[in-house]
Amino acid sequence: MESIQAVKGMNDILPDQIGWWHFVEITTRKVFESFGYREMRTPALEKLELFARSIGESTDIVEKEMYTIADSKGEWLALRPEATASMVRAFIQHNLQADPLARKFYTIGPMFRHERPQKGRYRQFHQIDAEAFGVDDPMLDAEVMYMLRSLLQKLGLTQVALHINTLGCTECRPVFRERLTRFLEQSANRLCPDCQRRRHANPLRTFDCKVDRCQAALVEAPLLLESVCEHCALHFGQVKGYLDDLGAPYVVDPRMVRGLDYYMRTTFEIITDRLGAQNAVGGGGRYDGLVRDLGGPDVPGIGFAIGMERLILLLQQGQPSPVRTPPVFIAVLGDTARHRGFLLSQELRDLGLEVEMDYEGRSLKSQLRRADKLGSRHVLILGEDEIQRNEAQLRDMREKTQTLLPLSEAAAELRKVATVPV
Ligand code: HAM
Repeated sequence: MESIQAVKGMNDILPDQIGWWHFVEITTRKVFESFGYREMRTPALEKLELFARSIGESTDIVEKEMYTIADSKGEWLALRPEATASMVRAFIQHNLQADPLARKFYTIGPMFRHERPQKGRYRQFHQIDAEAFGVDDPMLDAEVMYMLRSLLQKLGLTQVALHINTLGCTECRPVFRERLTRFLEQSANRLCPDCQRRRHANPLRTFDCKVDRCQAALVEAPLLLESVCEHCALHFGQVKGYLDDLGAPYVVDPRMVRGLDYYMRTTFEIITDRLGAQNAVGGGGRYDGLVRDLGGPDVPGIGFAIGMERLILLLQQGQPSPVRTPPVFIAVLGDTARHRGFLLSQELRDLGLEVEMDYEGRSLKSQLRRADKLGSRHVLILGEDEIQRNEAQLRDMREKTQTLLPLSEAAAELRKVATVPV
């Protein structure tokens, strides 16, 4: 019978890979919590309208990449393509604005976009997402980017660049949009069919088009960064100033536009040249009108998300896999020893040790071979004779030495010699 495969673009994360995920998750929690962020978990399924109203009707994500489901009452739901909209929804729904402790949040989990799968681009992928509400001071913009940088540094990722830009505000962006639309009209015959469409629906997105002839047509295009209002220019200048003060290098990238419509003013991306076409490891920005537009109070917000698969692909290029402390192994010979070994394993686990034992009555030689494969350094051998005398042999696989000890002391001794994984 034919076996069933996973859905295209959705991957299993197997035990040989999971060490990377744990390493990234543990480090993220430590770094984010030191900046005052608290974890929140939201559902994978939300009302479709939430994403349409926040990410934007004419974005690629909403137009063509969402997994949508009509539930039995005919209401349209969607698997979340990103986390910001859900975090904002939860912030409003639970009136978190009233909680002085709840201003900075993070979440880690799967997102879904129906894109063409390739290296670094999947249909189910994972994001580390951070969002901060309530402060529109540029100091927070710099701090958010600094936190992202700190995380990447703690993970040991150095060969990435922080690109920053400003997308203006509701005052200056519409004026620029018209200017850009006029420019695009003049170059219309040089644009690809997608950009012909974007020209009206979302002209800024033409900057993101990968088609060569569109890129060529846009060389002369006006830049938003050069025509933002005084307020936005001041804000951007201060963000850069704070980044300089923090010693965090950045590249001003006036052609960087984000694929989601909710941004205003500061936007940023973490860029790599080591993942082929998928060069963004993370991205984010300020979204000051979004909470209000989704029916909440007029509270500013800023955040970012990191793609975990891309991050881990990069980490794997530069570092050995995170080491895992191998288990203590209990080798047992005969039924009485097997029973004692079974009880002792639970006792050792209660003490925080990781323990493996043989359940199948194999020969000592084959049990030791298995312990060796598992990388166990310490093996406790419970032989039939030893058990009669309430004793056990503690074998050090590296030193190839063996010590006889009273069974009653085995747990304490193993706890002393075997280090516990954290
Ligand atoms: P985004 O740029 O759409 O932003 O996604 C953030 C990151 O998620 C990307 O830089 C990339 O690493 C990863 N990513 C996106 N799509 C895929 C995919 N199909 N396969 C693998 N990785 C992918 C957002 O999602 C915003 N919500 C970020 C944000 C938070 N802005 C403010 N707060």
